[in-house]
Amino acid sequence: MCLVGVFRYNSQQIKQMKPSFKPSDRLNLPAYPFADLERKATALKASGKPVYNLSIGDPDLTPPRFVIEAAQKALDDPRSHLYPSSRGDYDVRCSVVKWFEGRFGVKLDPDKQVCITIGAKEGLANIARTVVNPGDTVAVPDPAYPVYGRAGCQMVDGKQVLLKLYPEHGFLPDLKSIESVKLLYLNYPNNPTGAEAPDDFLVELGKLADANPAMTLVYDMAYSEMCFDHPARSILEFTPNAIELHSLSKMACTTGYRVGFAVGNPDRIAALIRIKEEIDSGAPLPFQLALQAMLNAYRGDVPPQDILYYREVFSRRRKLIIEALEKMGFDVFNSQATFYVWFKVDDDEMPFISRALEKGVLFTPGSGFGPGGRGWVRASVTVPDDVIAAVVSAIEDL
Ligand code: MLT
Repeated sequence: MCLVGVFRYNSQQIKQMKPSFKPSDRLNLPAYPFADLERKATALKASGKPVYNLSIGDPDLTPPRFVIEAAQKALDDPRSHLYPSSRGDYDVRCSVVKWFEGRFGVKLDPDKQVCITIGAKEGLANIARTVVNPGDTVAVPDPAYPVYGRAGCQMVDGKQVLLKLYPEHGFLPDLKSIESVKLLYLNYPNNPTGAEAPDDFLVELGKLADANPAMTLVYDMAYSEMCFDHPARSILEFTPNAIELHSLSKMACTTGYRVGFAVGNPDRIAALIRIKEEIDSGAPLPFQLALQAMLNAYRGDVPPQDILYYREVFSRRRKLIIEALEKMGFDVFNSQATFYVWFKVDDDEMPFISRALEKGVLFTPGSGFGPGGRGWVRASVTVPDDVIAAVVSAIEDL
């Protein structure tokens, strides 16, 4: 095949071109932390060194067989070849309703209180578009999953109010400090700290939402099924005035399927569906049906065996990493949830991060989750057991 003429400009001409594209001010943000870490891991791999990547919560375990099969089978369903609906398939929404009642004892209306999302991340970001006008205040925990402060605030021209989370308060915010915000993001079981929300906190949070009907409380429960001691509770058990996000990603080790759901207050759900109609056409049906298979596998609040297995593996790996870190004298936050280990290294965590990188170990710097994460480090145990063992011996003398 002749390739002459395929390339319109040579590299010299490209270099001489004047930059004409200027991204909008909304993109005037430092690199998204996980994209940046992925680039670092790729560069390290390219250098030929062994890489132990504990920087992203991307589970290595295999999804339940019946979840994979549900997605595979759905590809032969002619409905899968058509546009999905922005709010999600009706039968899948009914399965969400059944699961929610069995798991949390809360009844939902499949038409008014459920919207299937393209993972929790999409829902978290799009909710901000439904409620934030330029200059409106958005309360964002510090430290927190970066989506709240970025897509959920800066990218919709909101004004960020940081809610400090301290280890001595179990990484729970002081609810009394929250005044007239338009949007409040909270997340328990918590990423990055692994903190859980006790019932008395949820009671107070429910009261706050009830007393402030103009405020939208977004409760991110992406890690709801990853608790080792006792099950996490939904904020909808405490107030109807909230919108809660769930995800198949961490529940079934399927981050690549990009499917989750938002449930709760009908007005907020209607607004989310409205935005999604303008922007996307919903999650692909095969992955919605994978989500349905997972939810249908619960018997009331009892999860299928696969989830018990994931908990056992992640909890065992956490213990190994925690043991190694404590031996080194680091202060590890005591948590019984998520597949993250959150530990304090110093006033500034970056020298530790660099020393670990030299040994091929990639951790997440705490400051990537906000200024309150400075000095802290997150390790994600979503890598195979042999990698955990290699990390334990690599970090011994850090
Ligand atoms: C994380 O590592 O915090 C998450 O996996 C990132 C995400 O869920 O987008």
